[in-house]
Amino acid sequence: MTPPKLLVTAALPYANGQIHLGHLVEYIQTDIWVRYQRLIGRRCIYICADDTHGTAIMIRARQEGRAEVELIADMQRSHERDFAGFDISFDHYGSTNSDENRQLCHTIWQSLRDANLIVEDDVEQLFDPEAGTFLADRFVKGTCPSCKSPDQYGDNCSKCGATYSPTELIDPVSTLSGATPVAKTAKHLFVRLESLHDFLDSWTQSGEHLQNEIANYLKGHFLGKPLRDWDVSRPAPYFGFEIPDSPGNYWYVWFDAPIGYIASTWQWCKKHNENLEDWWKSDATEIHHFIGKDITYFHTLFWPGVLHSAGFSLPQSVHIHGFLTVDGEKMAKRKGTQVQAATYLKHLDPAYLRYYYASKLGPRLDDIDLNLTEFANKVNSDLVGKVVNLASRTARFIESVGLAPEYPHDGGLFASAASAGEKIAQAYEQLDYARAMRLIMEIADQANAFVENSAPWALKKDPTQQVRLQEVCTIVLNLFRQLCVYLAPVLPRLAEQCGQLLQSPIEHWNDSQSPLVGSPISKFEHLLQRLQPEKVQAMIEESKAEAAPLSETTPSTEVTAAPQDSGDALAAEPLAPVCTIDDFTKVDLRVARIIKAEEVPEAKKLVKLTVSLGGENVRTVFAGIKAAYTLEQLQGRLVVIVANLQPRQMKFGLSEGMVTAAGPGGTEVFLLGVDSGAVPGQRVH
Ligand code: 2FM
Ligand code: ZN
Repeated sequence: MTPPKLLVTAALPYANGQIHLGHLVEYIQTDIWVRYQRLIGRRCIYICADDTHGTAIMIRARQEGRAEVELIADMQRSHERDFAGFDISFDHYGSTNSDENRQLCHTIWQSLRDANLIVEDDVEQLFDPEAGTFLADRFVKGTCPSCKSPDQYGDNCSKCGATYSPTELIDPVSTLSGATPVAKTAKHLFVRLESLHDFLDSWTQSGEHLQNEIANYLKGHFLGKPLRDWDVSRPAPYFGFEIPDSPGNYWYVWFDAPIGYIASTWQWCKKHNENLEDWWKSDATEIHHFIGKDITYFHTLFWPGVLHSAGFSLPQSVHIHGFLTVDGEKMAKRKGTQVQAATYLKHLDPAYLRYYYASKLGPRLDDIDLNLTEFANKVNSDLVGKVVNLASRTARFIESVGLAPEYPHDGGLFASAASAGEKIAQAYEQLDYARAMRLIMEIADQANAFVENSAPWALKKDPTQQVRLQEVCTIVLNLFRQLCVYLAPVLPRLAEQCGQLLQSPIEHWNDSQSPLVGSPISKFEHLLQRLQPEKVQAMIEESKAEAAPLSETTPSTEVTAAPQDSGDALAAEPLAPVCTIDDFTKVDLRVARIIKAEEVPEAKKLVKLTVSLGGENVRTVFAGIKAAYTLEQLQGRLVVIVANLQPRQMKFGLSEGMVTAAGPGGTEVFLLGVDSGAVPGQRVH
């Protein structure tokens, strides 16, 4: 009987932030499992998408002066580029803002209505009268009603830990506009989860779908009492899908996000001429979700409840992992330990991180620690010292003769490594990658002991030992290949390089079970380089700089426009004396988006610009471009600003940057443009 096909998902990343090393724990964990399944010959697709809806995206797009769809498209490009850089082998990467998702939300909603699971109730929420929007908890700050600490978010106090509703905050302020929010009541729609209590009890406690600790947690925290209704709507304005039978209300982002798993599969089906029902409504497919422990509730109660009610397949497993710490601490931007995927890739090989994570990951929910010293040591001692070295110490010696025609006597090394394959496979299957890596390194240790004892470099020098040299190298290269097969789910590039070296691609787990003989080998090319610890440090330093890009300072004022009005600008203003690259890098030029352009009525030349340097980094700059641009022309465009100029107190306010432009001034000022694709905050080099 053919085993069921596998449909595997990792959580859909939010479109309001970049992928960092914390996210990658999950995408790499999942990718290893998927690649392992494919290697043993199981049909397996890996589906993901960007999670695009919600207030955060709406507000950010507003702040950046552009449409939400533009923002999410940029973000998706950047996410996909990062994932590709880490060799994450998605079969399809979609978006929750798709027609397929809208259609599925409609269908599933109707099923919930038909099952009488939707109820309506009034909800009192804080409303920002200036921004014209209801405020999610984290968009409100005020004084803790319990300990009276100021500057606390709307849901809990970071000082005393009290939890409360934002309407209880003392002196609340909207973080969007600074206005005082008012309490306002609106109708919300709820899913009556309690009606699904029996089903959820048996599904979560069956022992088949969840790790034990999760099943126990759900029992202890939720299932021992009636389940609370789940609020799944938000009143306009909201970026998302409007609920068809409740105009003016939108599905809450957490309603449509998991439905995105199905929608993205549907898009893949359309591309590959497959039938969605074969993947989401059939016993011939097993669904496996991989998620982090912070989103357990949604995936183990709400989502199974929805799938069950709408007649879709339930996941076979929800695999839940812990968080990432760096050097034993929570990642912190300020310390440079919340490293973005793109920053990592500028300095280090993705294989290092894939291997290191694999060596730490087990089937339980424990957090994993990226210890930066151990990271460098482990990669160098295991991958470079024990695995790659096997090839680099032997391949060149038999480039001209190839592998021996028969597999030589090796004292049982190959056979014992072949039989270890079963245990290694089991460890992969059970998500115990740390164990798999340990078993693999034991084989590598034996292979290295053989190399040491056989000393091929000495045989090379003795003309009477050339047959033995070929035998020894044949043995070592076959052990190397075995290791590459076992490591292929973790290190796909190394497996490919091994395939090229030995002129026999690694295509199946069983390639580890029989040696290659009598075949030619290719010229040896470098495989994996040693990890240079100073590069780890450089990555951390760069991450720190990204977190505080614009440091203490900034700016001033008007545009940097050349003062003269001459046909030959270069002649009129000769070049400045030569400066070094160090001089140049002292000037921190950044891409910024003008999110607001305002008149300064008392000033003849100036306009007041509010510019975003990405995220919450927003500043005010006064620029002398009033005669050259209308406010509408400025609103929303990208500019380059000098971001580390000493701020300058002007009559009209503090100017915290300088916008760069060319031209003599007056009506002839030409702002420097930025090609599309650049994003606010990027440095200009
Ligand atoms: O926690 C998160 O980052 C969510 N964007 C995950 C969504 S997973 C799924 F439900 F879509
Ligand atoms: Zn408090």
